[in-house]
This record gives sequence, structure tokens and C-alpha cells, in this order.
Amino acid sequence: MSKIALVTGSSKGLGKAIALKLAEQGSKVIVNFNRDAEKAQSVRDEIENLGGEAMAIQADITQEDEVKRLANEAETLFQEPITIVVNNATGPQPEFSLEDVTWEDYLDQLHFSVKAPLLLTKELMGGMKRKEWGRIVNIGSEVVELGNPHFSNYVTAKSSVIGMTRSWSNELGEYGITVNAVHPGFIPVERHGEVTEESAKAYVQQVPLKRLGKPGDIANTVGFLCSDEAEFITGQNINVNGGNTFGV
Ligand SMILES: NC(=O)c1ccc[n+]([C@@H]2O[C@H](COP(=O)([O-])OP(=O)(O)OC[C@H]3O[C@@H](n4cnc5c(N)ncnc54)[C@H](OP(=O)(O)O)[C@@H]3O)[C@@H](O)[C@H]2O)c1
Repeated sequence: MSKIALVTGSSKGLGKAIALKLAEQGSKVIVNFNRDAEKAQSVRDEIENLGGEAMAIQADITQEDEVKRLANEAETLFQEPITIVVNNATGPQPEFSLEDVTWEDYLDQLHFSVKAPLLLTKELMGGMKRKEWGRIVNIGSEVVELGNPHFSNYVTAKSSVIGMTRSWSNELGEYGITVNAVHPGFIPVERHGEVTEESAKAYVQQVPLKRLGKPGDIANTVGFLCSDEAEFITGQNINVNGGNTFGV
């Protein structure tokens, strides 16, 4: 049976790789984006060219009315509930010292790490419960263990993902819905620009597997967690970072 998967922020970066992976596994994919319609369309086209089915839907997933519209559009289109949600979208991630950071800077990050996943889960869990099957994957970050200085806005918001994932997994497990978090290491994507071997050296030195991550590393893990094979895995925090951190 084909499944309907929503990947937030999949017009580029890790979200794009995750959308392609889920399509390869047979899901019909909603390529969500906020601003970059052209890039989202090209992800949709790439999926269709590979024989999959996808639709690009614009929605600012930090806004309740937009989340409702997104869910309605998707379900009208596919005539099936969305049963796979990957909470991946992120906005700008500015770094601030404690002297300069404000509560609003914290909220900016919490809107993506907590508010958007909460709005989506509340909107979509009814369909998953009816199907007695669901997959929610929250994308965190290794920063929750590294505790990078001058980045407490982002580190704090991503840390919330850990408890949120555990709590939701306890609440939704009885309906066949698994909730897990995947914590990527540093994985260069378009927004990082050119990352030379030289500039990555300091980071890679600390990584047991001695290389930077690739978007496919994250997509493969998310793909597995969204599969039927992962039905007995829930509430877990999985670091995909070449061993740079060892578990939360
Ligand atoms: N790459 C890394 O090194 C790394 C490391 C650790 C964790 N992560 C996490 O992995 C996830 C993906 O990161 P990334 O590096 O792939 O990011 P990215 O390349 O900057 O992509 C962000 C995506 O989010 C979308 N987006 C932004 N605001 C949105 C909104 N309000 N509503 C809906 N979509 C929105 C963007 O679409 P538009 O441009 O069209 O708006 C884009 O598709 C994030 O949760 C990030 O924190 C990444």
C-alpha cells in the first residue's frame, strides 16, 4: 500500500534528499516549501521522472492556518490521510552571544523545532490513528550534545526535540504511530556555500569516521524509520554524524 508522506522544507538541503528517499521507497510525497517554488517544483519533477508521485505545496508551517490549508490540500489531492511526517524545515540560524541574544531569537528557533511539529502532529494524528499506522520523524541536531557556545537559541530549541519525541512516542504508541528523532552532524548543503576540505578539517578531525556527512546519510536513516521494518522502534534519538557524539 502506498503511503502519503509530508516532508517539511523539502525544496532543498536535507529535506530534498529525504523526499527523494521516501519516494524511492514508494510513498507519495508532499514537497513542502515556504519561498522557493522553483526549487520545490524541481524536486517534484525529479521524483516524477524517477517514476514516483509528488506534489509541491507552499505553506509556512509555523502558522496554524497554513498548516490546516496544507493538510486539506494534500488530503483532497491524494484522497488519503498523511501518515508519514518528517519535521525538517528550518529558518535562518543566526549565532549570538548570551549578551546579545533575545527571547525573540529563542522563539524564532522554537517556532521551527517545536511549534511547527506540534501544529502538524495535532492536525494529522487523527488520520494516522484511523489507519492505526503512522511515522513521525523530528529532525534535531548534534548541537544538543555539543552545546555550541554563541548558539544557545538554536541549541535550546533543538534540545526540546528530545523530550517532545519521548513524550509523543509514549502517547501515540498504542495507535501504531512511532515517533523518533534523527540528529544530523554537520552536513554541507546549498546554504553552507563552498565547504573546502581545508575548512572542514577541524570538524572532521573529531569525527571517528573521518568524513563530513552527506544528505543521503540522513535520508537513509529517515527512510528506514519510516518503513514497516522499523515498526518496533519509537522514542529514539539517533545520531547520524559519523560518531561525533554518542547518544542523548
Ligand atoms: N545541514 C546541516 O548541517 C544540519 C545539521 C544538523 C541539523 N540540521 C537540521 O536539518 C534540517 C534541514 O536543514 P538543512 O541544512 O537542509 O536546511 P536548508 O537547506 O536551509 O533547508 C531549509 C528548508 O526549510 C524550508 N523552510 C524555511 N522556512 C519554512 C517555513 N516557514 N515553512 C516551510 N518550509 C520552510 C526551506 O524552503 P524555502 O527556502 O522554500 O522557504 C528549505 O526547504 C533542519 O531541521 C536543520 O536544523 C541540519
